[in-house]
Amino acid sequence: MSNEAVAQQTATDNEVIGPEMYRKIDAIIEKYKDKPGSLIPVLQQAQDVCGYLPHIVQRYVAKGMKMSPSVVFGVATFYSFFTLVPRGKHVIRVCLGTACYVKRSEEILEKIKDELDLEVGEITRDKKYSLEAVRCLGACGLAPVVVIGQDTYGDVAATKVMDIIKKYE
Ligand code: FES
Repeated sequence: MSNEAVAQQTATDNEVIGPEMYRKIDAIIEKYKDKPGSLIPVLQQAQDVCGYLPHIVQRYVAKGMKMSPSVVFGVATFYSFFTLVPRGKHVIRVCLGTACYVKRSEEILEKIKDELDLEVGEITRDKKYSLEAVRCLGACGLAPVVVIGQDTYGDVAATKVMDIIKKYE
């Protein structure tokens, strides 16, 4: 991310994370702060409150749990179920694992990027979609695979993928 993009994201984070969210995070921290090894559930619940785990929330949790921000950052970035950027209403995951890659899943990804005007890891301006590239979704027999929200689509053609995506309003 460029410095400008980071500044813009921080401003957005400050707008999104309001006092009510901080109150809820306080309650989560209060519940877990004396329990060893409870950072992951605290971060999971904080993510449920905010929808994602921006740096300001990571720092807030670190302070509340009396931990180093770098430890919290390490955990937040290690586990794939944590996201540091906002996710769209519908998360699109395109598999770039070997079985899908040889069936040209890269073309599917490029098509989505072009059509929705976004990069991997980004969210559309209307917050409807976010795009992720993943390594094997465990459905190699269906390659190439795209997952939208909880729905798995197999044998997807780049020329048809937008027809699928547009069903998600
Ligand atoms: S490589 Fe795509 S589902 Fe396994």
